[in-house]
Amino acid sequence: VRAAGSRAVRVQDLAVGDRRGQGEILDRLLGNDRFRRWAARFPLTRPIARRRAGALFDLTAGFVYAQVLGACVRLRLFERLLQSPATALELAHEWSLPADRAERLLEAAQALDLVELRGAQRYGLGPLGTGLAENPGLVALIAHHELLYADLADPLALLRGETGRGALGRFWGYAGNDSPAALPDQAVRDYTQLMAASQSLVAAQALDAYPLKRHRRLLDVGGGDGSFIAAAAAQAPALQLMLFDLPPVAERARQRLGTLGLAARASVHAGDFLRDELPGGADIISLVRVLHDHPDEAVARILGAARRALPPGGTVLVVEPMSGTRGARRLEAYFGLYLLAMGSGRPRSARRVEELLRAAGFRAVRRHATTLPLLASVLSARAAPEC
Ligand SMILES: C[S@@+](CC[C@H](N)C(=O)[O-])C[C@H]1O[C@@H](n2cnc3c(N)ncnc32)[C@H](O)[C@@H]1O
Repeated sequence: VRAAGSRAVRVQDLAVGDRRGQGEILDRLLGNDRFRRWAARFPLTRPIARRRAGALFDLTAGFVYAQVLGACVRLRLFERLLQSPATALELAHEWSLPADRAERLLEAAQALDLVELRGAQRYGLGPLGTGLAENPGLVALIAHHELLYADLADPLALLRGETGRGALGRFWGYAGNDSPAALPDQAVRDYTQLMAASQSLVAAQALDAYPLKRHRRLLDVGGGDGSFIAAAAAQAPALQLMLFDLPPVAERARQRLGTLGLAARASVHAGDFLRDELPGGADIISLVRVLHDHPDEAVARILGAARRALPPGGTVLVVEPMSGTRGARRLEAYFGLYLLAMGSGRPRSARRVEELLRAAGFRAVRRHATTLPLLASVLSARAAPEC
């Protein structure tokens, strides 16, 4: 600031009094147009100024980036380019789009590293596109975001609670529903398929961080169609399997586990974990992407039921994205709004989940590092003997 003061900016120009805190002084300085122009030129501050401007541009343009990605996903661009690179004209023809519009989309996708030019005219997968081409789970997650964007069209109306049950609330039929056990199959079908499609990514994180071989019987609560216990079964061949979910989801799990040849190793239980007791007999209970869907009182009920269903010393495993985790700094911004639009739940830090676990009678809470905390963090805890 002093260096700047000698040439372009004098601190007194900023009208910053001694009474202000350091944060306020800095806010005022960074908001000062002359200071910003100086910082953009001064060699030591230039990279910072550029980085900030770039970050602000990305925030402003984020919605457009997401729509470019959404359009590519709807046109199945990544699967297409995995087969072979193609020109804009070929793709325009396949998509029944005017050639200049297809080119516009491809140029946007190229700027976002989703595709890249191979030679003068052919497009191939870019560094981010390769990650999507063979990942149907991620593609399905991206595709369902059009529901979220519809709900976020007026974020202030959403924050004020003026929007009522939106597209995501309808998609996640159990969210904010007083009688979720009465939901028909058609109300759980789409979210169950979405969860199944993306489960392999989460299961890999969870099972690498916390291998299940040391356990005898796993109960997966809110276990969806059984994709997680199927992955656990593959990792731990001696593990017995149990699953608890809403009646129509449990029925789907029964069928899927049968198809996978796991019927003899697995028992499936239907019910409402906010009202019913959980079945006993497991030495480990997993809650995968379940707690963040529910408010604290409901989480206390679910964990209480898990505690009662476990023997003393039994393990509970919580697997979900947790806020405040290193490597996943933006989670709050995303999940905070996502769950608000969905109409139930909130993102929680590992510390907050730990508090809820302790309040429910769990001890020895441990964090298990995952390689992709954006997908999931993992906490384990033991049922206290005295409860
Ligand atoms: C976000 S999904 C996660 C599914 C699965 N664990 C996964 O990660 O793929 C939440 C699951 O909890 C189940 N669920 C929600 N409310 C429930 C309730 N009150 N009782 C039992 N299951 C419930 C849903 O049916 C759904 O399968």
